[in-house]
Amino acid sequence: MYTLTVGLGERSYPIYITGDYGNIGTALKKLGVEGKIIVITDNNVDKAQGPAFTEALNNAGFVAEKFVIEAGENSKNLDTISKIYKFLINIKADRKSCLIALGGGVIGDITGFAAATYLRGIDFVQVPTTLLAQADSSVGGKTGVDFEGVKNVIGAFYQPRFVYINVNSLRTLPVREIRAGLAETIKHGIIRDKDFFNYVSENIEKIMNFDEETLKHISRINCSIKANIVEQDEKESGLRAILNFGHTFGHAIESASNFMLLHGECVSIGMVGACKMANYLGMIKEKVTDKVCQVLLKTGLPIKAKGIDIDEVYRNLYHDKKMRKGKLLFILPEDIGKVTQCVVNDENLIKRVLSEILQ
Ligand code: GLY
Repeated sequence: MYTLTVGLGERSYPIYITGDYGNIGTALKKLGVEGKIIVITDNNVDKAQGPAFTEALNNAGFVAEKFVIEAGENSKNLDTISKIYKFLINIKADRKSCLIALGGGVIGDITGFAAATYLRGIDFVQVPTTLLAQADSSVGGKTGVDFEGVKNVIGAFYQPRFVYINVNSLRTLPVREIRAGLAETIKHGIIRDKDFFNYVSENIEKIMNFDEETLKHISRINCSIKANIVEQDEKESGLRAILNFGHTFGHAIESASNFMLLHGECVSIGMVGACKMANYLGMIKEKVTDKVCQVLLKTGLPIKAKGIDIDEVYRNLYHDKKMRKGKLLFILPEDIGKVTQCVVNDENLIKRVLSEILQ
């Protein structure tokens, strides 16, 4: 099992990267969990991963309660949080209890927010089962829910006690989910690491065929890039915003698509939008955009979307959290492996880019 650490002083925690659930008990024992363990998952993950996960817990002498929610972004709301609180109160969960988020980004965000607020904060751990969650959302402590159609607008920074990545959990996912998860991996290459970008580009087939060593390698690099950024700027007062590359357009498109497009698909389109914007601003040559488009297309990700209202996306941009003094903040590439933060206030330019990625 490979271990790396997110260094945040007394809130530091390990990320374990492995190919099964065999060490989950050891990880919980190391954490010193004494109280009830509650696994929060969704109906799809429960079916695919629940039995193996429960068996691994039981083999280590742990018996867990389970709370299953309906899969999908539509569950990421205060109503679900309220149901979790009721469940926790019913089973008399106390301050020593520990929540386990077994699932993708939605489960991680919901579970983390419930853990951050129940009894003013109890322990939780992340067991991400999608590529998106393994590459990005399980690390760094962003938790929360959507509200009134705005993504992630209610939430808290609250770090897990550990992250346990079983790369083989990806085998039960639909291909579309794997492709979507790769968007965050490609994002990490563009913002921080050209070699990683090239590695992903050259190994897409191996990734899609679940080659264990390749998956472990990309997991290691994803998590170390993410950990390094979070260590420097946990609460996104500066540097961490670069992780939002592709997300300014991406989140606005995601809300306007009524969540018909997956998060990673919207990020993919958003990254193309950010490249086009950088190109129009003279920051990069068109060949950088072409290179990004090539790898996205090779992965099977969209580089534009049809049937989405441009004006709605434009309005959504201003509901998002990525604003500086009322102006939009874009993360724009200077090259593959390097991005910079830019306030853009040019409505014509923004709409021109939108019209090209939303045809
Ligand atoms: N997913 C972006 C971040 O964690 O900051």
